[in-house]
Amino acid sequence: MTSATNVERRIFSGIQPTGNLTLGNYLGAIRNWVNLQGEYECIYCLVDLHAITLFQDPAELRRNTREVAAGLMACGIDPKANILFNQSQNQDHAELAWHFNCVARMGWLNRMTQFKEKAGKNRENASTGLFVYPNLMAADILVYKATHVPVGDDQKQHLELARDIAQKFNNDWDKPDFFPIIEPLILGAATRVMSLRDGSKKMSKSDPSDMSRINMTDSEDAIAQKIRKAKTDPDALPSEAEGLEGRAEAQNLVNIYAALRGVTVDAALGEIGGKQFSEFKPMLAEVAVTSLGPIGAEMQRLLQDPAEIDRVLNEGSERARALSQPILREVREIIGFVQG
Ligand code: TYM
Repeated sequence: MTSATNVERRIFSGIQPTGNLTLGNYLGAIRNWVNLQGEYECIYCLVDLHAITLFQDPAELRRNTREVAAGLMACGIDPKANILFNQSQNQDHAELAWHFNCVARMGWLNRMTQFKEKAGKNRENASTGLFVYPNLMAADILVYKATHVPVGDDQKQHLELARDIAQKFNNDWDKPDFFPIIEPLILGAATRVMSLRDGSKKMSKSDPSDMSRINMTDSEDAIAQKIRKAKTDPDALPSEAEGLEGRAEAQNLVNIYAALRGVTVDAALGEIGGKQFSEFKPMLAEVAVTSLGPIGAEMQRLLQDPAEIDRVLNEGSERARALSQPILREVREIIGFVQG
């Protein structure tokens, strides 16, 4: 039986407000979020509860939350047509996450590669929040019964776990269609943008080397310089995608180029195949500067008015609560809590 709160197409996705937005965030997620507006009902969230699974300085967390909100709007997220808010302003996420802590199994969480990477060698010293991080992610999505989740490739394993949690909840309480089985949307030519210094590592805001990533706030000169210095190999670019196999750095730059141009890797190689990096890099820098320059400028403009950003997030959280509250009431009923 499908419940009254089930919808056919609803998107939820989140991003941690923990520092600079990178080209990885943009191509792996945000640009797709922008394109999916209008096609779906969209809920986009700054996941500050996830951010504190690693210690955050309070002033920086506040600053980063406003900065990432400005970044999303500068990229084209429209907070009037969609919902944009920060997670901690809707406590329903935290409550459902608790229920999911009681549904998910230790063995499932023990398999999460991101926990292993983030906890590092000293697992005993990781916060318990970091361990149950994927349960909160599942709650973020399912507290709205969202059906589709656009993310970069690195979130795939977490979304599989969210599917397992939804299925186990539905089975345990014998409500076969209560939570939808979500569909990941991993879209575009650059679903996994790699470091500019090491093609085997993901581009990340936490990489100690700033030269490894392009930040959305980088100046035109900084973008051009980072691309000029990006690691490559001595060969010319191939004309077909197979020719990129085993050439991680070349593959990454071509993926970025194709994604920024909005074409497939094959189409991009049709244009740039045969060129040396000395010729290709300035082309890539130009596309990057043209795409990212106006976003950085708009972000700075929006940040001039932090009160307006707070107003947008407040309003978004009110609308988010209006969607999640009836769903959480149903959950409490199913579980067997007495409620007035
Ligand atoms: P976060 O903040 O690490 O990243 C936000 C989004 O950017 C994508 N991304 C990348 N894509 C391609 N290449 C890269 N180098 C790259 N780096 C980041 C991520 O895949 C992500 O889509 N756990 C999530 C946030 C989250 C969430 C959710 C996502 C919390 N709850 C519910 C979806 C649904 C995270 O830490 O993303």
